[in-house]
Amino acid sequence: MRKPLISGNWKMHHNHFEAIQTIQRLAYALSSSDYESVDVSVHAPFTDLRSLQTVIEVDQIPINLGAQHSHWEEKGAFTGEVSPEMLAKLNVSFVIVGHSERRHIFGESDEDVNKKVRAVIAKEMTPILCVGETSEERESGRTLEIVERQLKEGLKEVKASEVASMVIAYEPVWAIGTGKNATPEDAQEVCKGIRIKVADLYKTASDDVRIQYGGSVKGVNAPDLMKQADIDGLLVGGASLDPDEFSRIIKYRLLD
Ligand code: PGA
Repeated sequence: MRKPLISGNWKMHHNHFEAIQTIQRLAYALSSSDYESVDVSVHAPFTDLRSLQTVIEVDQIPINLGAQHSHWEEKGAFTGEVSPEMLAKLNVSFVIVGHSERRHIFGESDEDVNKKVRAVIAKEMTPILCVGETSEERESGRTLEIVERQLKEGLKEVKASEVASMVIAYEPVWAIGTGKNATPEDAQEVCKGIRIKVADLYKTASDDVRIQYGGSVKGVNAPDLMKQADIDGLLVGGASLDPDEFSRIIKYRLLD
């Protein structure tokens, strides 16, 4: 059985004061039965990580600390970058890699994404590898082709046992921050395609790898998305900024 993982991607929102307040309100809204049913991670800006680590550890909050990206090198002349080593030192457990905003706004290539995936694994953190098609790619019927290429390139030289404990997030670019989410059936179809591709590449990993859906997830659409056989979690942007709404999503099984 794959335990669902619900992740909040705060993007460039919440300074460290707001981050502390948000995590405390989230922790207040969640109970031990929520954490038993679902793993939760929060992906904050770099400037918030130390403050969040302190609150999470001192108050023993079972929320996993996450980062939104990382460089692949351990150290060096890379102005503005942060290394996997630095994140691991803060007890970061999950790192988003290859988010569509990184790919499209900051020009990250599949090759960069692959280097990051491997660097994150090397520091014993879990990458959340994001894949997804643009609206033009979907309209021209190329969704699976694009997603499969991103997967194959992103997972190059990663061992089957490492893929098995990774997370893959299917995030159609046209659904991110637009209010237009994929229907649960469409999302399921692509997530199933991702699992089949993983089985193709790494026979043994496909039953264990967790696949998230992301793109305009809210409390109202979370239960139907989570009912799909190949959706093992959600990557939530806008709706994760509000601890009340994010906790509703985490409690999706009670909303049904
Ligand atoms: P959204 O973002 O939920 O605001 O659409 C999702 C994401 O970018 O991970």
